[in-house]
Amino acid sequence: MTSIVLYCRPGFEKECGAEIQEKAAWLEAFGYLQIAKNEGIVFYHLNNPEDGEKIMAKLPLKRLIFTRQWFVTLTDKIALPDYNRVEAIVEELGSEWQYADLRMETPDTNDGKALSKFCRKLAVPLRQALRKKKVLTEKNQHEGAVLHALFFSGTEVILGYSLGNNTSPHVMGIPRLKFPSASPSRSTLKLDEAFLYFIPKEEREYRLCSGMKAVDLGAAPGGWTYQLVRRGMMVTSIDNGPMAESLMETGQVKHRMVDGFKYEPIKHEIYWLVRETKKREKVNIPDQTPVDWLVCDMIEKPQRVVDLIIHWFTQGYCREAIVNLKLPMAKKYDTVKGLLDKLKDALPNCYYEAKHLYYDRDEITLLVKYKVHRDNQR
Ligand SMILES: C[S@@+](CC[C@H](N)C(=O)[O-])C[C@H]1O[C@@H](n2cnc3c(N)ncnc32)[C@H](O)[C@@H]1O
Repeated sequence: MTSIVLYCRPGFEKECGAEIQEKAAWLEAFGYLQIAKNEGIVFYHLNNPEDGEKIMAKLPLKRLIFTRQWFVTLTDKIALPDYNRVEAIVEELGSEWQYADLRMETPDTNDGKALSKFCRKLAVPLRQALRKKKVLTEKNQHEGAVLHALFFSGTEVILGYSLGNNTSPHVMGIPRLKFPSASPSRSTLKLDEAFLYFIPKEEREYRLCSGMKAVDLGAAPGGWTYQLVRRGMMVTSIDNGPMAESLMETGQVKHRMVDGFKYEPIKHEIYWLVRETKKREKVNIPDQTPVDWLVCDMIEKPQRVVDLIIHWFTQGYCREAIVNLKLPMAKKYDTVKGLLDKLKDALPNCYYEAKHLYYDRDEITLLVKYKVHRDNQR
């Protein structure tokens, strides 16, 4: 049987399953789901084995909001012997196909974490043996196929492949980011991951640059502001709560204690200029170009946050936005679909992308930007 194996955050298997079923059907690929609750793995067993390749080639992984990583199976679950596991895997693969990379994977559970140590050890002789048979080339990683070995125990594995141009660069789709000790909160990793995920490396120099202006709604204590400051941006941080002193000392942050739903960049800045300079008669209107970035991590109903984003983009207040949408409700996938439809209708001139990132919990991250030519971005 051929199946698509999908990795998601444990607890989100239902959303991940509903999404692949729906999006595979767009390609007229049908099958049935097998879900192991809280294991972070979903199987989509295909009615037609040839649909595996079709889905991998035609459905971009980035369109799957709740899937971190995926592969098409080459084998069912194989029972490995206690000894000569490497030989058994090599034999199972044969020498017909070549792979540009090997990923040793496990379920994202506590048992899986213990197993990953075993996988790291086994990876060394397995890589050697596959190289020797010229099955693992380690060339053209972006174009070639990636070999996946998903271990359920030391003696049970499923083998499969994904395509190098439609796969996550991280094992199990999990980027391991280092928590910066100078950040005032762990939330910082969410924005760090979002920038890495949504902004391709070659575009970072003009989409995330020093000197840009940003607004951070729901900023306190400052984990997201920290990521903007770190990239040299000038930030207006909106929150009634206190911001970390270390950030205020950089001189790059203005803290405004107002409601993030009422803050309007140009109007408010004029008001503060009047108050801070105490010159009521003549006020220089600050630069009226939009801010480059809006980021928002307010804990609020996602419908309200999406309305706010629509307001910012219809007013032309920002060029790009990264927003966290909290999803405490039961029907998460339906809610997200409704919100994205609303965005699409309200902002036809915008591009958006949504992903349940690794450092997200009961929430997803959304990128919105105008559909503009690269040369017009700055
Ligand atoms: C999850 S915390 C933000 C953490 C922050 N991103 C960080 O990295 O440190 C949510 C914040 O949103 C703020 N908040 C909630 N509703 C708000 C509103 N209407 N206006 C401004 N801030 C709001 C809260 O005060 C809280 O500090």
